[in-house]
Amino acid sequence: MDISQATLQAPETLGVPHGLARRVFEQTGVAVFFFGTDGVSMTSDEAGGDRALQESLAALAPDAAAQGADVVIVDPSSVTAAWPIRQRRRTIMVAAARVEARSEEGRSMARRLLAAAAEAVRAGFDNAAAKAENHAAAESLLQSYEEVSLLHHLGEVLRVNRPVSAILEQVCGELLQTVGADAAAAYLPGAEGVASESIIAGRLPFRAEDLPQVVAHLLDLMGTDGPSAGISGSVIVNNHCQDDPVLSGVSIALDRIVMVPLTDGQGRRGALLAANREDLEFGSPDAKLIRSAASATSIFIENQRLFRELQELMLDLVRSLVSSVDAKDPYTCGHSERVAITCRCLAEAIGLSPDEVQTVYMAGLLHDIGKIGTPEQILRKEGRLEPEERLVIQRHPVIGGRILAGIGKLDSIRDAVLYHHERIDGNGYPSGLKGDQVPLLARIVGLADAFDAMTSNRPYRPMLPLDEVRREIERNSGTQFDENLAKVFLNLDLHQLMRQFVERPTTVCI
Ligand SMILES: [Fe+2]
Repeated sequence: MDISQATLQAPETLGVPHGLARRVFEQTGVAVFFFGTDGVSMTSDEAGGDRALQESLAALAPDAAAQGADVVIVDPSSVTAAWPIRQRRRTIMVAAARVEARSEEGRSMARRLLAAAAEAVRAGFDNAAAKAENHAAAESLLQSYEEVSLLHHLGEVLRVNRPVSAILEQVCGELLQTVGADAAAAYLPGAEGVASESIIAGRLPFRAEDLPQVVAHLLDLMGTDGPSAGISGSVIVNNHCQDDPVLSGVSIALDRIVMVPLTDGQGRRGALLAANREDLEFGSPDAKLIRSAASATSIFIENQRLFRELQELMLDLVRSLVSSVDAKDPYTCGHSERVAITCRCLAEAIGLSPDEVQTVYMAGLLHDIGKIGTPEQILRKEGRLEPEERLVIQRHPVIGGRILAGIGKLDSIRDAVLYHHERIDGNGYPSGLKGDQVPLLARIVGLADAFDAMTSNRPYRPMLPLDEVRREIERNSGTQFDENLAKVFLNLDLHQLMRQFVERPTTVCI
């Protein structure tokens, strides 16, 4: 088991460049031997095979390495040279060679040959180092590209109104492709009022129901001091899972795993992982990718929770405000919440998006907010209203529209509030809009409003039976109500809808 933080290294920088001794021999005719700074041979057989010469030259290596300078020894029968090879200001090994020469002229030639060999050796190392650096740079660039690409893709789908499971599915799918693993998985344990999330992409080498156990075991190995919300500081890489009794007990098919903790900012601690990859161990590039994905996902989950809390707070505030309006008329207590629920049902039935459904629900809640400016004696009056009283009450859509006019985000809701008493035939108020001039949200609210009025007891009449309500909506379809909306509405299970009025929390009637 290793907690991987290793940086990428190109193997060429650590040994003799492949084929260098052979190339130097072909260029200069000099057989070069390579030694560690302690004199241990690093030469392969391709350099020759003269064991006695090799041992003799090995004795020069420690001195040449210690001096950090070329050593040349001239004797009557030969010239011997040893050259320290330096990389990044450090002597990494020593190259050495001997050329036989029995005359003054021969020794002079031998020195020139050895100098040429030294130059070829050093050029060979420089080339290899440059290649290694290029390789590292290319790998690093590729890694950065993959990381940026992964985060870019995730950025496109991380929306606070998407469920956590959909986001985790996307993250696992992206990881599966980017890392090239057999499987990618995400797990978050359940908490009070929140179900656990278990998402798998690809072919997991163990049973899906064992995912929590695998995650819990690896988290235990990482220790209890997990990363704080949104910051996954640690990662676990195991390329020999069969050496771990717990993992091998879960599945004999699990070979490799890389895992990063995943948090939700509320104490839930799960993980994002990739499992098994044919012929290639997981390493620090994979760990880095998964860590980036886990960080982005953790932050998203936390943001989503905060967004929901804000949304619920806003809804509670709106309900409180609406309660104060509904309370002005005991006969309409809970009316706004029932209209909102009906609006939501109808919006879902006609296929509006979740965001639009939420907007329609809010419009339903707020549709009568303008009645805050209507005198209670008119709202509470039993019996028929006088014409002037009717005019006063008919001002509530305009007052409601004015109340919401200063809130830019509520533009579409304001229109629904302002026009919810318009009719398709143009005989509504306050503007006498006709047909498609009446905004869709206002048409939905208008129908839901009429439905609640008909199914509620009023001072001047008891609630109507559902069959009669249906007939009334059918009769007014195309005149008071939008024909298509009325058709969809009449196909709803209205009993089930009305059960929601009782089951769901409603505004409090003061
Ligand atoms: Fe109204």
